[in-house]
Amino acid sequence: MNIDGSHYRTIWLKEGSPDTVQIINQKALPFKFEILDLRSLEDTAKAIKDMYVRGAGLIGASAAFGMYLAFFGAKENPCNKENIDKAALLLKNTRPTAINLSWAVDRMVSCLLKKEEMTPEQKREAALKQAQEIADEDAESCRQIGLHGLDIIKQISKKKKGETVNILTHCNAGWLAFVDYGSALSPVYAAFDQGIKVHLWVDETRPRNQGASLTAWELAQHGVSCDLIPDNAGGHLMQRGMVDLVITGADRVTRNGDAANKIGTYLKAVAAKENDIPFYIALPSSTFDFKMKDGVKEIPIEERDSSEVRYVEGKNSEGKIETVQICPDKTTARNWGFDVTPAKYITSFISERGICQADEKGIISLYPEFG
Ligand code: MRU
Repeated sequence: MNIDGSHYRTIWLKEGSPDTVQIINQKALPFKFEILDLRSLEDTAKAIKDMYVRGAGLIGASAAFGMYLAFFGAKENPCNKENIDKAALLLKNTRPTAINLSWAVDRMVSCLLKKEEMTPEQKREAALKQAQEIADEDAESCRQIGLHGLDIIKQISKKKKGETVNILTHCNAGWLAFVDYGSALSPVYAAFDQGIKVHLWVDETRPRNQGASLTAWELAQHGVSCDLIPDNAGGHLMQRGMVDLVITGADRVTRNGDAANKIGTYLKAVAAKENDIPFYIALPSSTFDFKMKDGVKEIPIEERDSSEVRYVEGKNSEGKIETVQICPDKTTARNWGFDVTPAKYITSFISERGICQADEKGIISLYPEFG
């Protein structure tokens, strides 16, 4: 995606420095565009846990590069089974909900274990190739999601005789959440690029405000019209016919179609159903968890520090970034990062393989190898 006219991915190997991976610092956005170096497994684990990188696809790709850096970064670390397992566990424990993370780590583990008979240099090459493949696949899947989702937006635009299509989205499932293109926003960019009139309602997405700080920023970079709305406004807009469809991303989708996504998604899905508005979830294959069935019972939900609820960060009138407390001194808070939307509220899934009904039959029709 372009930032001020230059193409960026969200993660890449630093040119001329095979022991350094670079990322866009998402904690600094939208006020500052900054690139950070990751030079070790520990740097990567911290970047994922503290959300310098975030979003299902990107934490998967970051973890893959983290496994590469664990053995071929700045620090010496013998690439044996014990150390491979240790590195994998450290990364998997950073964030529990998005399955893309363990999916990518498992791929790196099997690549590294298969290469035991190789020289260290051959192993290094194989690990880098595998991490880069994971990143490339993520970008390509998201590009394909855009093409499939485009058909849905096209149909609505046609029905509205070319009038603006109003799309509500939650959190950030744009290119910042992946390696490139995004999941929920990829169809939006594809439609915009074809001259279809689109407008986004962007949920601010408390407590970390990914909608306000990231989605609003990346849509503006691309020139897509949007309005930021408080998280609680969606139902009101739906009731008044101001939302044509909802598209969100997902962090894990079970084989029967229950979907974990950023906290607040479930409420939007219920409101959409009540108002007969189609509710789509866009995701690459790496977000399906074919081993789980009942999302509400089985998907692990990350609980983050309560300070994220009690404090808000922003720019003050002098242009300085400040954190302020928004509740009485002694107020306690809870901070679940995700919720699960049961399949019955989801109109369809959009993946790189196409569009399917949100139930086991629909999902397996796209993924017969898991039937
Ligand atoms: O906690 P985050 O910012 O990593 O949240 C994950 C997400 O990006 C969203 O839930 C998103 O909609 C899923 S798709 C990347």
